[in-house]
Amino acid sequence: MRIILLGPPGSGKGTQGDLIERKFGIPKISTGDLLRQAIHDGTPLGRRAQALMNKGKLVSDDIVDGIVRERISLSDCQRGYLLDGYPRNLAQVRSLEAMDGGRREIVIEIAVELGSLLDRLRSRRVCSRCGAIYNLRLQKPKQSDRCDVCGAVLYERDDDKPEVITERMKVYREQTEKILDYYRRKSVFRQVDGSGSVRDVFRRISVLLGRELSQAEGKKAF
Ligand code: AP5
Repeated sequence: MRIILLGPPGSGKGTQGDLIERKFGIPKISTGDLLRQAIHDGTPLGRRAQALMNKGKLVSDDIVDGIVRERISLSDCQRGYLLDGYPRNLAQVRSLEAMDGGRREIVIEIAVELGSLLDRLRSRRVCSRCGAIYNLRLQKPKQSDRCDVCGAVLYERDDDKPEVITERMKVYREQTEKILDYYRRKSVFRQVDGSGSVRDVFRRISVLLGRELSQAEGKKAF
């Protein structure tokens, strides 16, 4: 089984992806996290990606397709995996289908209204070591600058600046929303209400996934 989480910036894909990974034991693959790690490590790929990410633009398809192809070939993905932030345009949809086409999949769109997205992004903080996601207003860490899980320093993402958020929203509308239409036409598409607390949203997703995964197990597909 492959789970694809879709939704605009700030809709909670990373937050819910971490919870799904923990509860259902499905490895989460976040292209955003992998690119930020490459930037942190100072790799050539990271240097190519950084300028685009800081402007809110998409990184080129060949880079992200390559990252995903390599990651899903690892043994922990054999039974299934969860994609957060990929695919993001129709070319990436086609690449994913070419690299791992026969796999059963479920596509979940987390739907949140624009005002809440902006509120969430403006006060997001991320752990510099383990990547745990916080919000200074809505998902507060115990100490405002430290991670509850590992104690490392929290940072604000470079692409959470107001002008970059505006560009990311535009890119989402112009490129990623097209793939929602593509998946809506397939029976694999589900929309989840992403409003309310993290716990509320996770409850909705858990019910949905519990049902889908038990069906998949019945058919020995997961
Ligand atoms: P990426 O890291 O994937 O960013 P994104 O898709 O814009 O999504 P975000 O990470 O901003 O939001 P999220 O939905 O994960 O929300 P989160 O859980 O953090 O990509 C970054 C960049 O990398 C792209 O712009 C692009 O340049 C590049 N890139 C990545 N993938 C690519 C690809 N496939 N192709 C090309 N380029 C690619 O939550 C947000 C905040 O809200 C947090 O503070 C959280 O605590 C809070 N929150 C979450 N849920 C709730 C809730 N229910 N109630 C209250 N607060 C909540």
